[in-house]
Amino acid sequence: MNLTEKKPRKILFICLGNICRSPAAEELFRQVVERRGNIAEWEIDSAAIGSWHIGQLPDKRMRIHAARRGYDLTHHARQVSVADFDRFDLIIGMDSSNISDLKELAPSPEAEAKIVPMARYFTMATRYDHVPDPYYEGAEGFELVLDLLESGCENLYNCLS
Ligand code: 4NP
Repeated sequence: MNLTEKKPRKILFICLGNICRSPAAEELFRQVVERRGNIAEWEIDSAAIGSWHIGQLPDKRMRIHAARRGYDLTHHARQVSVADFDRFDLIIGMDSSNISDLKELAPSPEAEAKIVPMARYFTMATRYDHVPDPYYEGAEGFELVLDLLESGCENLYNCLS
């Protein structure tokens, strides 16, 4: 990052449905900022590639697994739009399919440059190069998402501070 550039403070997390991975990332990252920074300086949100779950709370399984770790997921799903590329500094996709869908939507090269994979911030030892979709998985899929996102969100904050 150019030292004279403003640091990204408006962060949008994206996944396919906005009911499992990205609302979890949003809340985990919010808690990192609340613990380590000044939340008033940040805009943190999440959105879906698809429209299936618009208006819904996160998947009950995701809410239960997150609540066990102290995260209360209250986001209501919404679909990403072209306007989000103006509103946010960083648009973080959970997997390669999210990234290619976001690139299709990006209205300009500058907008496209805001898209980054969440896996760029992984620090834990893992064989994963993306945040795997837990929707058709069991409990361990949700725990894996939370493990990857907890270490990733901490490191994302380190990279932006
Ligand atoms: P998410 O998980 O992308 O992490 O919110 C999914 C939620 C819903 C569906 C797929 C993935 N779905 O096919 O409805």
